[in-house]
Order: sequence, then C-alpha cells, then structure tokens
Amino acid sequence: MRRIVLAALLAALAFAVPASAQNFPTRPVTIVVPFAAGGPSDAMARILAERMKVTLGETVLVENVTGAGGSIGVGRAAKSAADGYTISFGHLGTHVANGAIYKLGYDLVADLDPVVLLPSNTMVLVSKNAVPAKTLKEFIDWLKARPSPAAAGTAGAGSGSHIAGLYFENLTGIKLQYVPYRGTGPAMNDLVAGQIDLIVDQLSNSIQQVRAGNIRAYAVTNPKRIESAADIPTVDEAGLNGFHMNLWSGMWVPKGTPKDVIAKLNAAVVEAMNDPAVKKQFENLGLQMPPSDKLTPEALGEWQKAEIAKWWPVIKAANVKVD
Ligand code: MLT
Repeated sequence: MRRIVLAALLAALAFAVPASAQNFPTRPVTIVVPFAAGGPSDAMARILAERMKVTLGETVLVENVTGAGGSIGVGRAAKSAADGYTISFGHLGTHVANGAIYKLGYDLVADLDPVVLLPSNTMVLVSKNAVPAKTLKEFIDWLKARPSPAAAGTAGAGSGSHIAGLYFENLTGIKLQYVPYRGTGPAMNDLVAGQIDLIVDQLSNSIQQVRAGNIRAYAVTNPKRIESAADIPTVDEAGLNGFHMNLWSGMWVPKGTPKDVIAKLNAAVVEAMNDPAVKKQFENLGLQMPPSDKLTPEALGEWQKAEIAKWWPVIKAANVKVD
C-alpha cells in the first residue's frame, strides 16, 4: 500500500515540476504551420523538422492548421501549453500583418515568446502560361487592358501573398480580384491549371513550377537576382523600380515557456539551418538565410516589434477587408 502511495506522490510531483531543458523533450514536438500542406511555409517547416529531430532526439511533427490568413493556426499554438512541445511557425503575414487586420483572440507579442528568425523569401510575380505576356511590362499592360480585375491567388487576407498583392496594386494602380486559398500550395495547383491568372508568390513556392515551364515568372522583388533562379530578372531590371519585398519567417512558443527550453529549441533550429544538406535545400528553393547575428530569441522579438511598428500603419491605412 505504502509503495502505491509513494508512486502516486512521485507521479503527481512529476507534473508539478515545470518542463526543464535537461530532459526536454521526452515526447514529440509539434510545429503548427498555419497554412496548407504543400506551400512554402509547410515546405520550410518540414525541412527543418526533419533535421531538428536529430538534435532533439524526439520526433518533430508538422501540423497544418489553416484558415483566416494563418491566424487560426497561430491562435491554436498560442493557446497551447507553455512547455515547448508546441511551436508556432509563421512570418511577416501571420505574426505582424494579421494583428492589423483581424480581431485576434490573442496578442502577437503578449501571448507568444520568440524562438528564432528563419530564412526569408523574395517574392516573385508569376502568371498562368496562357497570359500573352513575355515581360513584366507586357504583363502590366495586359493587366491594365483587361475589362475586369485579374484573379490573384493568395493564402487569405493578411498572408504574405496578399500583402505582396496589395503592394503591387499600390505601385501600379492595377486592381486585382483576390482568390483566397488555405495556402499558396493549393493556389499554385490552380495557377498551373489556368484557373487563376497570377500569384505574387514566395519564390520557394513557384521556383520548381517555373523551372518546369508550367507557369511564367516576370520578376523577383529583390534588388539582386537570386542565384538559383538567375534567369528571372529583378523588378528594377524589369521596369517596376522599388517593388522590393522579402517575406521573413520565424518560430515562436506560447508566452511563459521556460527560457532553457526555448534555448534548446533555438539551438536545434540553428543547428538545422547550419546543416549543409539543409542549406543546399534552402538555397535550391531560392531562400536567403537569416544574418548570423540575428539568431537569438531576443533578436526575433526586437525584429517582430519593429516590423509591427512599420507595417501596421500601412496595413490599417489600406483598410484591408478580411475574406
Ligand atoms: C502566404 O503567406 O502566402 C503563405 O505563407 C502561403 C503558404 O505558406 O502556403
């Protein structure tokens, strides 16, 4: 009898003691990706998860929780236990813009702790092959000559593809008809099938379809050409000066996650980003690695706050309507 009581007491104590890094993780870790499988966020998370499990010694799962420009998935992660077993994957759209567009049931800064800044994606203007334009100038002329707005695929209001579309509209005076998907993976399927006209997409999502000749690329929103997509001109070369945008990504955990657990997750991601095979995969997708002095949790926290200060006034002024 005494042995049973003792075992029960120890079991209760085990739950009482917060997770600490020295034996973290003791079960699978889940990365919540707020967009559909097959898109750029999903691809980056899965490549990292594959390598993180080597360092952490536990399975790292990717769970796609979609909808409302990624804000549903972020909410799911933000409200999970602050024990390091649930990670919120996101980017400029989900962890900055959504705060200016949606009435979120959580606060992007108060309810999340930053873990690490991840690679960034230049955007690329891509269209279905049926569009009779060979250059960005011809594409813009085609868009302007249409009797009705062209259909632009996005991952929902506030997503990176949507913000990039708004930026493009603002610079060209062209009006687009946004078609929201649960991610730009499904949007890409419709672009290849000719069901929609264009996407202002993350390069990593379009690059393979461009290489296969299934869609047409006009320009990247980067001051310099991207090495693994060197045949795509920059927006400046193509005549749309200053249409620069890089979609940075990051990982967060619920506020209150033990600092030593965050440090362990941070180290596992940094190790994954330094892995030669991972670097090669990211390079091939046209992704740009984060600066090595910006890899601490604090650096992501400062970056996110600066981006909120920069983008919220712009997005609020655009009076974005949610889908
Ligand atoms: C977006 O912001 O457009 C999303 O990242 C697309 C995706 O990852 O599916």
